[in-house]
Amino acid sequence: MGFKALCLGLFCALFASHLYISLPDDIEEYWKVVALATTAKTFTFMGMCIEHMGIIKYEELVSMLFRLDETQPVSDENVTVMDTEFAGVPVRVYLPKRKSDAPRRAVIYIHGGAFCFGSFKNAGFDSLNRWTANKLDSIVVGVDYRLAPQHHFPVQFEDCLAAVKFFLQDEILEKYGVDPARICISGDSSGAGLATGVTQQVQTDTGFKHKIKIQALLYPALQIIDSYLPSHQENEHGIILPRDLAIKLVSLHLTKDETFVEAMRRNEHMPQESRHLFQFVNWSTLLPEKYRKGYVYTEPILGKHNFSFPGLMDIRVSPLLANDSLLQNLPPTYILTCQYDIVRDDGLMYVSRLQNVGVQVTHDHIENGIHAALSFMTPPLYLHVGLRIRDMYISWLDKNL
Ligand SMILES: *[C@@H]1O[C@H](CO)[C@@H](O)[C@H](O)[C@H]1NC(C)=O
Ligand SMILES: *[C@@H]1O[C@H](CO)[C@@H](O)[C@H](O)[C@H]1NC(C)=O
Ligand SMILES: *[C@@H]1O[C@H](CO)[C@@H](O)[C@H](O)[C@H]1NC(C)=O
Ligand SMILES: *[C@@H]1O[C@H](CO)[C@@H](O)[C@H](O)[C@H]1NC(C)=O
Repeated sequence: MGFKALCLGLFCALFASHLYISLPDDIEEYWKVVALATTAKTFTFMGMCIEHMGIIKYEELVSMLFRLDETQPVSDENVTVMDTEFAGVPVRVYLPKRKSDAPRRAVIYIHGGAFCFGSFKNAGFDSLNRWTANKLDSIVVGVDYRLAPQHHFPVQFEDCLAAVKFFLQDEILEKYGVDPARICISGDSSGAGLATGVTQQVQTDTGFKHKIKIQALLYPALQIIDSYLPSHQENEHGIILPRDLAIKLVSLHLTKDETFVEAMRRNEHMPQESRHLFQFVNWSTLLPEKYRKGYVYTEPILGKHNFSFPGLMDIRVSPLLANDSLLQNLPPTYILTCQYDIVRDDGLMYVSRLQNVGVQVTHDHIENGIHAALSFMTPPLYLHVGLRIRDMYISWLDKNL
């Protein structure tokens, strides 16, 4: 009892001390976001304390929270929902109940969560995918993949690719009544990074008979080789995803080596032989003037550590590293970026790279948007900006798929 009271007291004190959080003035629903940011910050602080005490790892604690938020496959009056497996990979399929004479459109959705957390079962993703199926009268497939730190690159990518490959077979498309010429791959955050990599693969691999018609990337994370972009500097103390935390989680995708985390925080994690790759993420040429002004381009320090684990220089981790001849094969693309987001510049640079090679890109930038807004669409963490992003995404899909 005494211990519980002490913990509660400590939590309240921490919460209060974090209340003095400074948010940009233009943030919509200011007090809701303050509450959200304060809770996230307090939780992260406590999680780190508990990790230092050796009780449980921070990422295990967060995983437990994500699992509390999982939903069952519940059908409703419009959509039949079921969990199954595609090539051994868990998926949730949403099938509209309305009668249809023609084959339907399909959306494959890959969820975010920094490669460590989350599932299509989480309430936010389930509600988004159900909404998509209902609004577009389309088949939707939510894809799960094995997570870090138990599994490292390329497991996450391979799981997503295997599920997509399975779905794109003639007999499977026919079974679900899908039009092979009208398929989209979508995702958010790290899931959008995976969606980007999978789309690059499907469009260029002659083993795929059916290609993707369009891709939709919602605040995508698209590279790890430069960790000091203007958006990293501006969002060092970001609302949902501060820089230190983002780097800690993203590094778990590749390795458990703690020295890598420290090196990445100092932007000196890449080997000498990666020099030629920096042209693909050179923000001094790829970011629009508006986002780079006030910042001075400095090249990362190379060769200080010589880390060599798989994935470090791989386009399946950093799809921004794909060369122009590969990018030319990509389908019409929707990219949504948020101003208050550490990965903002990844998305902005991909817009430039794709436009430079003539790929048709629709870009929406949310001036007062925050990272992971789509995960806050269900009570009690309901943010209006999440609904706005959802509606922009659905409206683009409806016109283009
Ligand atoms: C089913 O679709 C109708 C018409 O679009 C809508 O009004 C209703 O809310 C939907 N039901 C659910 C459970 O989403
Ligand atoms: C990045 O672009 C700047 C010009 O804006 C150039 O001076 C620099 O050498 C480039 N660096 C790389 C690694 O491409
Ligand atoms: C890393 O490799 C480069 C050459 O590839 C070498 O010059 C440098 O000394 C190495 N650094 C370390 C820390 O081993
Ligand atoms: C572009 O990248 C692809 C795949 O990574 C590679 O096969 C191809 O040779 C590269 N093309 C050029 C011109 O470098």
